[in-house]
Amino acid sequence: VLNWTDAAPVDDVPTDDVIGMIVAGKDLALYSVEGEIFATDNICTHGHARLCEGFLEGHEIECPLHQGKFDVRNGKPTCAPVTEAIRSYPVRIEGGRVFLALD
Ligand code: FES
Repeated sequence: VLNWTDAAPVDDVPTDDVIGMIVAGKDLALYSVEGEIFATDNICTHGHARLCEGFLEGHEIECPLHQGKFDVRNGKPTCAPVTEAIRSYPVRIEGGRVFLALD
């Protein structure tokens, strides 16, 4: 059973863009891609950069520091120099709000 945390209104996540937010003490990045919301850890696995300051193109987030990329759907690295996945979190939308399973 997943434990859902109410993170934010859906409208807080900009369309086809990324936003950083602290939810339950975690630094997270939320993405809206083609009407669907995704969530990952915000700190790059390569260095101390916040992905919310990067560039989202399709389902890929580009890190602002060395331009490594991750797939926001599963956190998998898609472009060097990143080799380690970032954690991604299950998302549920209910009543216009974004819920995340953070455990
Ligand atoms: Fe993200 Fe280097 S810190 S690619």
